[in-house]
Amino acid sequence: MDTLERSIKGRHSTRKFLSTPVPRSLVNEALALAQHAPSNSNIQPWRIVFASGAARDRLKEALLDVAKQETPRIPPLPESFRHYRSQLGLQVYGVGMGIAHDDKQSKDAAVLRNFEFFGAPLVGVICMHRDLGPPDALSVGMYVQTLLLALTERGLDTCVEVSVTGYPDVLRRELNIEPELLMLSGLAIGYADPAFPANELRIQRDPVEKSVTFFDD
Ligand SMILES: Cc1cc2nc3c(=O)[nH]c(=O)nc-3n(C[C@H](O)[C@H](O)[C@H](O)COP(=O)(O)O)c2cc1C
Repeated sequence: MDTLERSIKGRHSTRKFLSTPVPRSLVNEALALAQHAPSNSNIQPWRIVFASGAARDRLKEALLDVAKQETPRIPPLPESFRHYRSQLGLQVYGVGMGIAHDDKQSKDAAVLRNFEFFGAPLVGVICMHRDLGPPDALSVGMYVQTLLLALTERGLDTCVEVSVTGYPDVLRRELNIEPELLMLSGLAIGYADPAFPANELRIQRDPVEKSVTFFDD
């Protein structure tokens, strides 16, 4: 396998990190590579605000405080797509974490760990200007995947996390995120805890034919 294929297949979501610090030099290398991502009119609309150390601790505490009191305001999934989330939940919480389907307390505690960024030592919020639209969000996605692959290639593990954007006021206040930036997702970066079985999950994909159509004649 070449390194690109290894990174594509090796990247997966990590939901428990070690406290081992992330070398900033590796992150800087990955960010420099991701900057090569294509974008609509070369706007390069991606913005990321990172926090580590005490800044990460403050953010985590503030998110946990609010998450214990209020449901996050995340755009709801349309009904016809919700079975994907149920299937994923069975994998992550059931198979990966050994939580029984009717054990609401353990499930709630596991969900709450989203707001600790799963213990990742480096966390980020991915943003773009709020006046931009779907082609620009696509550009940000291309950037983020490039970044994830570059991090994977450098031995780092990640989890993209929309959940944290459910508390936009907390993110904005703690990370001083400018009002004109729309917050698209969180990002956790670190080294996976090898003793956590859910980190070994490899989530299945639909067959290619479900996503792609060719017209040849
Ligand atoms: C935009 C986006 C938002 C996501 N939000 C969350 C999240 O809030 N919490 C979480 O545990 N995983 C989150 N994920 C991870 C997905 O569940 C994961 O990518 C998907 O199930 C495929 O698994 P894999 O990343 O291990 O290949 C998110 C992924 C993306 C791309």
